[in-house]
Amino acid sequence: MSGAKLQKSSISNQQSSIMRVGIIGSGTMGSGIAQVAATSGCKVKLYDTNQSALDKAKAALEKILSRLIEKDRIDADEKSRIQNNISYVDDLKDLSDSDLTIEAIVENLDIKKKVFSELETYVSKDCIIASNTSSLSIASIAASLKKPERCIGIHFFNPAPLMQLVEVIPAIQTSKEVLEKSTKIISDWKKTVAVAKDTPGFIVNRVARPFYGEALRIYEEGIADLPAGQAGFATIDESLKTLGGFKMGPFELMDFIGNDVNYTVTETVFTAFYFDPRYKPAFTQKRFAEAGYLGRKSGKGYYDYDDNGRILISTELKKPLDEKLAQQIFDRVLVMLINEAADALFMNIASAEDIDHAMTKGVNYPKGLLAWADEKGIDWCVSKMDELYNEYHEDRYRCSPLLRKMKTNGLRFEV
Ligand SMILES: NC(=O)c1ccc[n+]([C@@H]2O[C@H](COP(=O)([O-])OP(=O)(O)OC[C@H]3O[C@@H](n4cnc5c(N)ncnc54)[C@H](O)[C@@H]3O)[C@@H](O)[C@H]2O)c1
Repeated sequence: MSGAKLQKSSISNQQSSIMRVGIIGSGTMGSGIAQVAATSGCKVKLYDTNQSALDKAKAALEKILSRLIEKDRIDADEKSRIQNNISYVDDLKDLSDSDLTIEAIVENLDIKKKVFSELETYVSKDCIIASNTSSLSIASIAASLKKPERCIGIHFFNPAPLMQLVEVIPAIQTSKEVLEKSTKIISDWKKTVAVAKDTPGFIVNRVARPFYGEALRIYEEGIADLPAGQAGFATIDESLKTLGGFKMGPFELMDFIGNDVNYTVTETVFTAFYFDPRYKPAFTQKRFAEAGYLGRKSGKGYYDYDDNGRILISTELKKPLDEKLAQQIFDRVLVMLINEAADALFMNIASAEDIDHAMTKGVNYPKGLLAWADEKGIDWCVSKMDELYNEYHEDRYRCSPLLRKMKTNGLRFEV
């Protein structure tokens, strides 16, 4: 299969010369990315317009590094080295000597464009200007620059220091050299790079949609309902954890991410795909978000949480799982995920290898979805999708043409 190539992170974290990295926005993502770059020996300037965000980032790093010392993961010298590699600045001009800048400010195209066009007046002509955006097109951000070929998407996952995957997204304007350089830098930071086409959700936020969407649909249909009006969230979660080996079920994960945040991603992807029914958001999640049942952070979501963020066990969780129902739930969510992954490959969003690595290293899936398709059998995938389509007659359940072609020709993904 054609497509972009995944690059394994290099063993060495040696930089050929000390890289200067400017990070714009010192919130959740910016501060995490700063830690990653500083740990790899880069000189980092972390910029924010809000002084309290800078103070918070500095204090958070102190805490994280102290914890790493307690766990014997680093020593005091390493802690000082990392801290000394980061300076906290409140003037965009201070980033003028950067080799690479990564922007992680508010997800708003107009604000990002304004910052990018100002930044370009300060930095050298060779400086790479990257965005950590999750949902905006890199082409639209690049268009704010006089030299759009220097612009690229570098998409980290939260928390950046812990999550292995980084999606690198060249825009149609991006030069080959900028793509190569960016890929090399991120690999040197000991991350696994997956190169993705500049399309909504890139790889992970596209391919993972059915994990949430199909679970919500199953819930809404009531097929997982237990007697006495119990909701079925736990039944669906347990089915995926027990039969699939997922670390968290979809409802636990949505509660963890936040129903407001997860709903917005789904809605954005749905809109960006011109309302393809495959990505249709669920009213259930919308109502939970509207009600303020955001999940762990608000103490209540699909589950109730104690003060330490642990799920308060519901009576439903204590009941034994109905094996047949669990299998039906698991098969339906899994085949929808496989179909989405196959379709991403079919549309050349990324290589097969990158698609599988993206899901295991970006969202900790127990297996790559294309490898899982081979394991279940392509015939099984096609017949499961056709069963769903025949039952509902909804475009949401259309089988990817790639799976169908592979079935006809007796092919496997062989990732
Ligand atoms: N949070 C996630 O899980 C996640 C994951 C991947 C990508 N992203 C993307 O990363 C970006 C940042 O997200 P976040 O969660 O870190 O946000 P955040 O709200 O935690 O931090 C944003 C920071 O940007 C600062 N800021 C806002 N406008 C600014 C400006 N004009 N100039 C300088 N600083 C400014 C704010 O003061 C704030 O400190 C977004 O584009 C988001 O889509 C987020």
